[in-house]
Amino acid sequence: MHAVELIERKRNGGEIPAAELREFIAAYARDEVPDYQAAALLMAVWFRGLSASETFALTEAMVASGETVDLAAQLGRRVVDKHSTGGVGDKTTIAVGPVVAACGAPFGKMSGRGLGHTGGTLDKLESIPGFRVELSTEELVGQVREIGIAVAGQSADLVPADRKLYALRDVTATIDEVSLIAASIMSKKIAGGASALVLDVKVGEGAFMRTQEDARRLAEAMRGLGEEAGMDVVCLLTDMDQPLGQTVGNALEVREAYDTVAGGGPADFRELVVAAATQLLALSDLELDEDGARKRVTASLGDGSALAAYERWIRAQGGDPDPALLPRAAVVRRLPAPATGFVRGARAREVAAVAMALGAGRERKEDPIDHAVGVVCRAKHGDHVERGEPLAEIHARDEAAAESAAAALLSAYEIGDEPDPRPLVLDVIR
Ligand code: URA
Repeated sequence: MHAVELIERKRNGGEIPAAELREFIAAYARDEVPDYQAAALLMAVWFRGLSASETFALTEAMVASGETVDLAAQLGRRVVDKHSTGGVGDKTTIAVGPVVAACGAPFGKMSGRGLGHTGGTLDKLESIPGFRVELSTEELVGQVREIGIAVAGQSADLVPADRKLYALRDVTATIDEVSLIAASIMSKKIAGGASALVLDVKVGEGAFMRTQEDARRLAEAMRGLGEEAGMDVVCLLTDMDQPLGQTVGNALEVREAYDTVAGGGPADFRELVVAAATQLLALSDLELDEDGARKRVTASLGDGSALAAYERWIRAQGGDPDPALLPRAAVVRRLPAPATGFVRGARAREVAAVAMALGAGRERKEDPIDHAVGVVCRAKHGDHVERGEPLAEIHARDEAAAESAAAALLSAYEIGDEPDPRPLVLDVIR
């Protein structure tokens, strides 16, 4: 394998033979290919893309760079997993996991920390007092066997090539390329050992994929990779023009997930939880069709069983599930609507930037997080507000932080005369 020839071939729009691509990635993971050559290849891929077989070779090579886990074999059951391509206010795993477990399907998941402007599930879970995200694979499997659910941080030994390549993509403007995103996500899912996967592909100004067309391409690429690896994949295309649910910020999001598994929660978040859990159950070994799965999911939200599963899960990982114990911000400031009308936008990226500035996210990976702070979007797309009514709430460390967040948050909102309804689930790709 000659790295320069391989880069040149991709730069000129050619196809890289699978064996050579696998060798390049393996050598990069072993530090035998320098960052500058890997960066040049990434940029060539950004401009030229990868064919389906190149994308599969890249995925395979990344999976082979580290350990793999066969959860299904260890549990002796089909294991379902979910993954979101990253959104603002996306606390779906925290609610979907207990719902799926309550309905009788095992839910064992490895999650990540925040990427860019989107928060990570682990950061959110760590706002629960005592909650432990570091579980060994044995602990994860044991807990799923015992109580049906475990969510842990991804082991450093799983797909180390993606960890290295992702860090390089992050600093070379090569994150947002469909085949690279598809290979990055699917290598982790394949190495993690699930039998079936529901992918929540976010679309909109707060997502990696800004248009439905791009999101569909990403969904198809990931589904194809899953199929090649023997995994059933269903993709939901969901709106990410505005934050999901009302809350953006770690403890606030856990509270919202708690409210939802307890049978309440905002309508859009509940809709997504039901949609994702329904697809997961339909892919599980419970032999339910979609209709039966939806009925069981809805029942678990109404009869207290999803809440009981949540409480068992949080306790099993050392946490206290009582939402009254979640950290609270010192200052809560209401943001009144500046005019009467319909909310026509609460731009996700801008809301995320406000939450970030309040301290809810990280600029650099070593930055600390303030779990208590964030934003609550009381009014969302399509809602009617009267002038002076609460549009949003700012949860801040102090008055000065709340003050500077207020103007920025107001400019994330758009209020108009006409409603502009938009569905949350844009498509389901099977
Ligand atoms: N999430 C990932 O894990 N990888 C990407 O490339 C993008 C989002």
